[in-house]
Amino acid sequence: MDSILVKGGAELHGEIPIAGAKNACLTLMPATLLTEEPLTLMNAPRLSDIKTMTMLLQSLGAEVQSLQSGRVIAMSSLGPVKTRAEYDIVRKMRASNLVLGPLLAREGHAVVSLPGGCAIGARPMDIHIHALEALGAEIELKDGYLHAKAHGGLKGARVPLRFASVGATENTLMAATLAKGTTVIENAAREPEIVDLAACLSKMGAQIEGAGTSTITIQGVDRLGGATHPVVTDRIELGTYMLAPAICGGEVECIGGRIDLLVSFCEKLDEAGISITETDRGLKVARKNGRINAVDVKTAPFPGFPTDLQAQMMALLCTASGTSHLEETIFENRFMHAPELMRMGANIEVHGGTATVAGVEQLKGAPVMATDLRASVSLILAGLAARGETLVNRVYHLDRGYEHVEEKLGAVGARIERVAGS
Ligand code: UD1
Repeated sequence: MDSILVKGGAELHGEIPIAGAKNACLTLMPATLLTEEPLTLMNAPRLSDIKTMTMLLQSLGAEVQSLQSGRVIAMSSLGPVKTRAEYDIVRKMRASNLVLGPLLAREGHAVVSLPGGCAIGARPMDIHIHALEALGAEIELKDGYLHAKAHGGLKGARVPLRFASVGATENTLMAATLAKGTTVIENAAREPEIVDLAACLSKMGAQIEGAGTSTITIQGVDRLGGATHPVVTDRIELGTYMLAPAICGGEVECIGGRIDLLVSFCEKLDEAGISITETDRGLKVARKNGRINAVDVKTAPFPGFPTDLQAQMMALLCTASGTSHLEETIFENRFMHAPELMRMGANIEVHGGTATVAGVEQLKGAPVMATDLRASVSLILAGLAARGETLVNRVYHLDRGYEHVEEKLGAVGARIERVAGS
């Protein structure tokens, strides 16, 4: 398995292009199952999670082609599709469950493996199940698989979600586009990836109002057509690269960056003393002189501080002047990067869902272990600021969510290289 070797201490200067959003692409791709016409996604990220979704859709009978070195994904689900999503693929990536809503809407039945737990928490499917049941589906758990049926097709309904789950909102939204009648999703997630999905489905002929708010209303239609759609900017990749000059000094322009994708995060960077300027190409981020300020962070669904940037923010706060508190409210076990950062000299105490980070002057390089996707990149960021060498082991998670991280950071002056594993 590959490792990433980082030699700390270099200031960063230059520009970093931000890719299309992994999480948007992973919900836009299953939308191909809702139509027999071609669906083409532009500005797709080149990531192993996208390959996993490609394999899953192909296993269901969809045609999926990667064009322009992976930047364009051309899909077509013209023929009959299979309705069973196997454990072997679903276990690799939880977002595989996003085929459930489209398959039910298209075929009236589907069998989808439960994803199982992952390192950051249990991540059950109850909200997805209740939402699809509200649309008339009968869902049973047998042998680790969800067996879903909608006799006579899905029917529009009021669907209150007990929590604004991103995936459950996406599954329900896709299913409701082809249901009979009107569906109202209450307490819907408001993430930009949902707005992007609704924009693409609308191009395909769906009738949707309120995406980006807590109430989404969908008027079901008989059929959807094809579309060509550019994937929205990846706000998590954006936030990660905004933290790179914040943590090790210098000035970096993130091309394609937008503040409206990351308002709470930008407010926290401002509080920490990082300057952010909007340019006509994106966002320029610079670290002012001296140490940054400690800040308190609490993760929350959009528009709150994203849980997917909590680990990277912790890496920044390790060297702040003063004590910061990070409260994780979305996942129950998302501080696995803390003990690794402590191996680099950070002073962190974790109690339940809160981490207290007492800033130290300087981190020191060390061999560390990447435990999940965002934790991996937080260790790379910490390594950029640390004195000496940091070897981040087990980086396969990283390639799930960041394309060519060593090239993007290397281009702005970071001393970083991939070490091929055996
Ligand atoms: C999506 C993102 C992920 C991000 C997360 C929260 C994708 C592919 N992934 O994941 O990167 O960290 O949103 O912003 O878009 N829950 C239940 N029951 C359910 C569904 C969820 O209890 O049926 C819980 C989860 O265990 C978790 C919380 O709700 O604690 C948030 O999950 P959810 O919003 O569904 O996240 P995902 O869609 O899985």
